[in-house]
Amino acid sequence: MAGVAIFDSGVGGLSIAQEIQQQIPALQLIFVSDNEAFPYGTKNEAELTSRVSEVAARIIRQFQPDMLVIACNTASTVTLPTLREQFELPIVGVVPAIKPAAQLSHNRCIGVLATPATIGRAYTQQLSEDYASDCEVLKVGSSALVQQAEQKLAGKPADAAVIEAELAPFLAQNNLDILVLACTHFPLLNNEIEFFFKLNNHPVQLLDSGAAIARRVASLTTSLTASPIEENKLAEPHIAAFTDLNGVPEALINALHKRDFKRAVALN
Ligand code: DGL
Repeated sequence: MAGVAIFDSGVGGLSIAQEIQQQIPALQLIFVSDNEAFPYGTKNEAELTSRVSEVAARIIRQFQPDMLVIACNTASTVTLPTLREQFELPIVGVVPAIKPAAQLSHNRCIGVLATPATIGRAYTQQLSEDYASDCEVLKVGSSALVQQAEQKLAGKPADAAVIEAELAPFLAQNNLDILVLACTHFPLLNNEIEFFFKLNNHPVQLLDSGAAIARRVASLTTSLTASPIEENKLAEPHIAAFTDLNGVPEALINALHKRDFKRAVALN
């Protein structure tokens, strides 16, 4: 196994990487951030598809991974068919966890917090219609929270007032019991988000797709390798790659170090 590339516009890939690291510690990970084109959540579909295809091609050329994880709801909800047609390797996408949320909700009221682009996608609408038609589904698009997650990983504390303001529609919906974090940046703000629900005495379960993606990667890994990967023995060190290496804050390099991504390189 040459490794699994985890690709997002920014630090969102880390929320997926941490789940994979927990479930399959021996797998080599290549974390790729397209920080040059960040953010994806404000791009139109044509522009995004062409950028993601181009960066995916560069990742495959440079690292020859065995698998590509599009660790971005904004990209996955629109680019997966094109990518799967273009490339032969297995491609795993991350899409909003609306189906499990509907299965878990006692009050039949769920929230979906994503980028404005993901909220507007036909794919997201279809998920609601197919799996949550008997639930009230409150959808909110937020670019500010994406910026807050980047800021946190860049070593500056997230701004509590911004987070509270973005969560306000959900906090006001008393019977909402499941909140889908449908942007991979948002689990990096789990503690901050939970804080405001607790403050409002509002019991809610946050749900993201990370653990399910890691299970999917684990099952594909087993079918790709002849012999099972040795437990807890990393074959090759993890790598972090950036489309704009010079633009990476020092604090993010340190955070990556702590997560065992010891080497940061430019994506050619
Ligand atoms: N992390 C990405 C997602 O899951 C989006 C962030 C961005 O807007 O670039 O949708």
